[in-house]
Amino acid sequence: MNKRQNEVFVWPLCTRIIHWMIALSFITSFITAFFHSLFKWHLAFGWIFGIVLIYRLVWGIVGPNYATFKTFKLSFAELRYYFVEKVQNRWRKIHAGHNAASSWFTIIVLCFGLEIVLSGLLLQGTQEASGPFCFLNNDFFKASTFLFYVHEYGAYILVAWAFIHISGVLVEQFYHKTNMAFAMVTGYKRAEGEDTVVSIWHHLFAYSVIAISIGMLYTIVYDEKSYLTHERFAKIDYAAENEAYAQKCGKCHKPYPPFMLPSASWTLLMDGLSNHFGEAISDRNITQSEQESIRAYLASRSAETSSRKLAFKTLDSLGTMHPISMSKVPYWRAAHEDIDRSVYKRPSIKEASNCFACHEGFEFGILDNTHIHIPQ
Ligand code: HEC
Ligand code: HEC
Repeated sequence: MNKRQNEVFVWPLCTRIIHWMIALSFITSFITAFFHSLFKWHLAFGWIFGIVLIYRLVWGIVGPNYATFKTFKLSFAELRYYFVEKVQNRWRKIHAGHNAASSWFTIIVLCFGLEIVLSGLLLQGTQEASGPFCFLNNDFFKASTFLFYVHEYGAYILVAWAFIHISGVLVEQFYHKTNMAFAMVTGYKRAEGEDTVVSIWHHLFAYSVIAISIGMLYTIVYDEKSYLTHERFAKIDYAAENEAYAQKCGKCHKPYPPFMLPSASWTLLMDGLSNHFGEAISDRNITQSEQESIRAYLASRSAETSSRKLAFKTLDSLGTMHPISMSKVPYWRAAHEDIDRSVYKRPSIKEASNCFACHEGFEFGILDNTHIHIPQ
């Protein structure tokens, strides 16, 4: 016996909460992807999206009746019938569970969603050298270009699907007048069928997933030492690696990380010290033997030897060029194109080449998204 006449209780509260968590975690991770400073939030919402999708997979097997995959209508004939009936019979009666379109939609969200989450985690590991897959950075950083496209296009496709889903719900709401838009708010659908029965185990499972998701948000955003965001690369101590480099090349500006430029650029730079960006550096400033030591050091740590994102993106964008300034690197230009030229003229920055002003810790080789702050 149903609790309400003409309506079926289809979605218990936990299902509704998780439905909105799937939607919101996807939207927020999509939006935060466009802002470097929100990178941790991007990771956090991406994780939550992944957790609730896996929950949905398990729920599809052990969940209450209307949620299970075995009630899904996945044959082509059912999908066709769904659309034919939709066009021919505006006042058709609907079944309480998933219709053919929403069955397919759920499957697509699960497939693309998990693909986006997995490629994102692998991308974080290979490209940013952080998180649980950071060990892949050394051998597989070249795969990150591919992973990036898989991740990005997957996300755009899912956004498009989300719009199709929303349009479908609006058609149900305003054309067929089945009040579908509110089913995920009240839990009741104007349809045929029995009220759903949810066991204590279902509740326990669903609410633990909700609690884990909230914990995840906290761990990623506020825990500096979290395993989910830890960096593979420690701070580089240039003085320990090559004292002459740290002392002499760090005199007028902080030492630039050698993995920033290819070895041909460093050779050119070392050959041209007599006119180093307007400064005349001679063996009176840096002795010949120090110069040789620095030259060998820079070559041994150049971009070609590194699996850092900056190194391989720079090499990738340079082709056969080997400039001695980052401002000539197309990748650098693209990464900074949104920054107004006048920003570099601020007294706290002075020059675009003063990477250290905006990339906190750059003199230790640190260059991750969470350490970018433009000073006023
Ligand atoms: C006498 C001061 C001085 C010393 C010593 C010095 N530099 Fe510089 N360096 C400069 C100036 C000035 C610039 C130009 C910065 C600018 O355009 O704002 C510069 C720029 C650079 C840049 C270009 C950064 C970019 O991407 O635009 C690199 C790389 C660099 N120096 C490396 C070195 C190395 C390696 C050494 C040691 C061999 C060294 N510098 C020693 C003054 C110095
Ligand atoms: C005025 C501040 C400022 C200066 C100076 C600056 N950057 Fe940046 N940099 C930024 C900002 C802001 C971003 C992020 C841009 C965005 O939101 O896409 C960025 C992004 C980058 C990125 C891309 C990071 C990523 O993960 O995609 C690299 C690499 C980088 N900067 C290197 C450098 C180097 C090397 C220098 C010095 C030659 C430098 N930057 C100078 C502010 C600055």
